Amino acid sequence: MPEALDLLKTRRSFKAIELAGPPPTQAEIDTILTVASRVPDHGKLTPWRFIVFEGEARRAAGEVIAEVFQAKYPDAKPDNVDYERTRLARAPLVIAVVSRAAPHVKIPEWEQVLSAGAAAMSLVLAAHALGFGASWITEWYAYDRRVLDALGLAPHEKIAGFVHIGRPPGPAEDRPRPPLAEIATRFDQVS
Ligand SMILES: Cc1cc2nc3c(=O)[nH]c(=O)nc-3n(C[C@H](O)[C@H](O)[C@H](O)COP(=O)(O)O)c2cc1C
Repeated sequence: MPEALDLLKTRRSFKAIELAGPPPTQAEIDTILTVASRVPDHGKLTPWRFIVFEGEARRAAGEVIAEVFQAKYPDAKPDNVDYERTRLARAPLVIAVVSRAAPHVKIPEWEQVLSAGAAAMSLVLAAHALGFGASWITEWYAYDRRVLDALGLAPHEKIAGFVHIGRPPGPAEDRPRPPLAEIATRFDQVS
C-alpha cells in the first residue's frame, strides 16, 4: 500500500494557529473517531475517551481556561487573559483524548496509558489521511485540576492531548528526524 506509506512518511505537525476552517464535516469527525478507537488495547478496557470541541463550545471552554489563568495570575495583562480565551479556538476543531487508565487486577496502568497515546496518534493520522493538518498539544491547562473539572474529567482521568485539526496552509517544512542508526539497534548477545 504505497499511498498509506506515503501518508505515514509525510505526516508532520502544524501550529494550531495555522489550521483554518472549514472544520471537518460530522461524517469526517466520525471517521477520525472511528480510526482513533481502533487501537491495541490490552484487556479490551477502552481506557480512553474523546471530547469534541467545535464552534461556540470552543469559546465556552476558553472562557474557563481564561478564568483559571486569571485566578492563578491576578496581575496578568488583559492581552494575556484574552489569549487564554482563544486557546481552544485557534483551529476549527479540537478533540481531547482523555486517558481513563486506572489500577486493574491484570492490566498494568502503563499499558492503558500507552493505548491512549496510540488513540491520539491514530486520530492525528486519520486527520492527515483526510487532508487535514493536526497538532497534538497539551499546554498548561491540560494539567490544571480546575480546568479538568470544568471539562468534566473524573479525578483519575488525564488529558493525553488536545488534538487541533484544520486545513493546513500548504505543504509543511519538515524537521530533522532522528537517524535510525541512533535509535535502532539489533540485539545480538546477552551481556
Ligand atoms: C503528549 C504530547 C504532548 C505535546 N504537547 C505539546 C505542547 O503542549 N506544545 C507543543 O508545542 N508541542 C507539543 N507536543 C509536540 C507536537 O505534537 C509535535 O510532535 C511537535 O511539534 C513536532 O512536530 P512533528 O509532529 O512534525 O514531529 C506534544 C506531543 C505529545 C506526544
